[in-house]
Amino acid sequence: MLKTLARCNNVEDLRLLAKQRLPGPIFHYIDGAADDETTYRRNTSSYDSCDLVPNVLAGVEEIDMSVTIMGQKLAMPLFCSPTALQRLFHHDGERAVARAAEKFGTMFGVSALGTVKLREIGEMISTPKLFQFYFHKDRGLNDAMVERAKEAKFNALALTVDTITGGNRERDLLTGFTSPPRLTLRSLASFAAHPRWAMNYFFKDKFELAELKDYVEQGSNVAVSIGDYFGSMLDQSMNWNDAEKLREKWNGPFCLKGIMSVDDARKAVDIGADAIMVSNHGGRQLDGSRSPFDQISEISDAVGDQIDIICDGGIRRGTHVLKAIAAGAKACSGGRMYLYALAAAGQPGVEKALNNMKVEIERDMKLMGITKLSQLSSNMLRYR
Ligand code: LAC
Repeated sequence: MLKTLARCNNVEDLRLLAKQRLPGPIFHYIDGAADDETTYRRNTSSYDSCDLVPNVLAGVEEIDMSVTIMGQKLAMPLFCSPTALQRLFHHDGERAVARAAEKFGTMFGVSALGTVKLREIGEMISTPKLFQFYFHKDRGLNDAMVERAKEAKFNALALTVDTITGGNRERDLLTGFTSPPRLTLRSLASFAAHPRWAMNYFFKDKFELAELKDYVEQGSNVAVSIGDYFGSMLDQSMNWNDAEKLREKWNGPFCLKGIMSVDDARKAVDIGADAIMVSNHGGRQLDGSRSPFDQISEISDAVGDQIDIICDGGIRRGTHVLKAIAAGAKACSGGRMYLYALAAAGQPGVEKALNNMKVEIERDMKLMGITKLSQLSSNMLRYR
């Protein structure tokens, strides 16, 4: 049966709709991950390794699912992780995600490899905004990005720490995916098979990496794979000292995205970070690494009272959010869960994705017998 947005009840439905709408190389760039994609699959399946133990007769008519992270109050405990290249997936790109996130009162993370200027997003929405920063070799570019995020009144900055080199994304190697898309016979054939996408891509605003195009050709005008971009443009000498200096320069709520070990979580506390996103970059970098959910309880035991812990990755259901919070996360975030929706239907798609998750979280809280997320605790989880 042909999918329509109204019939998309979950992330998998939106994924299938995105698959219908996008040229193959672009769909597989979103959908794919590193090596054998074991970590990518595990990011979601790890939520099945434990079960929720509900309480009943708790008077749950009114529930409050708001959370505060990095000093920002969010109306729901799930936000949009920063993801790159959004105008490639839908011509409205970040504009669509920003407006949808604002409607749901949740945070929108904008990537350094974003395709709409920070200034425009800053003027567009008043809800919390996170800027995701890649540490480039070009120090002028790094400084300019911090300044622009400040000028655009972004509320928090997240330094990505798990892309020190490019992950081995074999689907991209097979399809030849690059940014911007390289025009080959094969890619042109996949565009021709998706004329609506192709018309928008070729005839709407020129695709570019909005914050980078004045500094680097790669990604906007020169076609490169994301792996090659990470490998050639980012600074592999980046260390804790650089992270601390960046925090000082930013001088606002600061997060490290891609922390997985307890040792690194402690170091994040030591350099004064306000939050960590426990993340393996959606399984797109080190295949065989543990899932974020599996790491939450030990990181929470070590530093949960000193730093905000965000569980980033694999979220497909409201119960996944509740399990992560019960294990010690303060909030959750996800990329593909709204990117499929963006590709499927632009802003209404992202709204549908966020609404599905919000409705599930509300229902699941009631079924768990809680009215506030702070009532979730590890004794409501049993590992198999
Ligand atoms: C990715 C980057 C760009 O493709 O976040 O994973």
